[in-house]
Amino acid sequence: MLVSTRHRFLENYRTIRSAEGRGSRESAYYRALPYQDLSGKNSAQWTIRGKSYRYFEGNILSQIERETGRALDVLDLGAGNCWMSHRLSLRKHKPVALDIFTDAMDGLGAARHYGRRFPLLEAEFDHLPFRSSSFDLAIFNASIHYSTDYRRTLNELRRCLRPAGHFVIIDSPIYRLPEHGERMRAERHDEFERRYGFRSDAMPSLEYFDEPAIAQLAEQLNIEWRVHRPWYGWKWWWRPWKARLLGRRPPSRFWILDGGFA
Ligand SMILES: C[S@@+](CC[C@H](N)C(=O)[O-])C[C@H]1O[C@@H](n2cnc3c(N)ncnc32)[C@H](O)[C@@H]1O
Repeated sequence: MLVSTRHRFLENYRTIRSAEGRGSRESAYYRALPYQDLSGKNSAQWTIRGKSYRYFEGNILSQIERETGRALDVLDLGAGNCWMSHRLSLRKHKPVALDIFTDAMDGLGAARHYGRRFPLLEAEFDHLPFRSSSFDLAIFNASIHYSTDYRRTLNELRRCLRPAGHFVIIDSPIYRLPEHGERMRAERHDEFERRYGFRSDAMPSLEYFDEPAIAQLAEQLNIEWRVHRPWYGWKWWWRPWKARLLGRRPPSRFWILDGGFA
């Protein structure tokens, strides 16, 4: 990524996240994530994150732990404030948190709040500074949709994963059809323009997955996907019906994609 593109992306990202009230001065805030948002500023989103993480831990991570039978080398891609790495370290795994954002409240700098040590790396998805076959598991939590090319991002990851390694995509928006995702993207940029005076499109991120793209990636990169559909509650279940009744575009789904390279 060009330095100027990255700089503009991070400038816009910081403005938006800070307006949303992300982060805290209190370590207790970070340590309670993802289950509780002690700031109360983004509680609805953290409720979803908490449910996704609980599902991942109970149904995917525990299975990989059983298969492997040892502490896992895990790459936390787009780690943000590193809550995922913190949770993994509590389970005695060996996470590495990677991000391009080093902010002290909302980026890698927030890792100081956890009282546990794990490596922090300022780097990009598409240029991973690791030797081949370094990780058992890679996790993109609410982050892979910032990629500008899923094929390139996953190809680079394939190099760093061990042969039986898994990569798990959590909390990224998934649509049935690309046109629904494109409508979401246009609405989002219009909303940024109205609120902040910029469209936040310096980096041409893909911003969503759609079902044809997931199938195409499987074919192009020899990926075997296991698709998980966690239960997020009746309100969440009702969203597509409500959208249909109101004549709106279908909402995104937060499936969890557990991938492996064949
Ligand atoms: C919405 S945040 C999610 C953070 C965290 N994983 C979580 O679940 O709270 C997305 C993160 O992806 C990072 N990111 C975006 N593009 C990236 C790239 N090309 N390489 C590495 N990190 C990136 C952003 O800086 C940001 O911290």
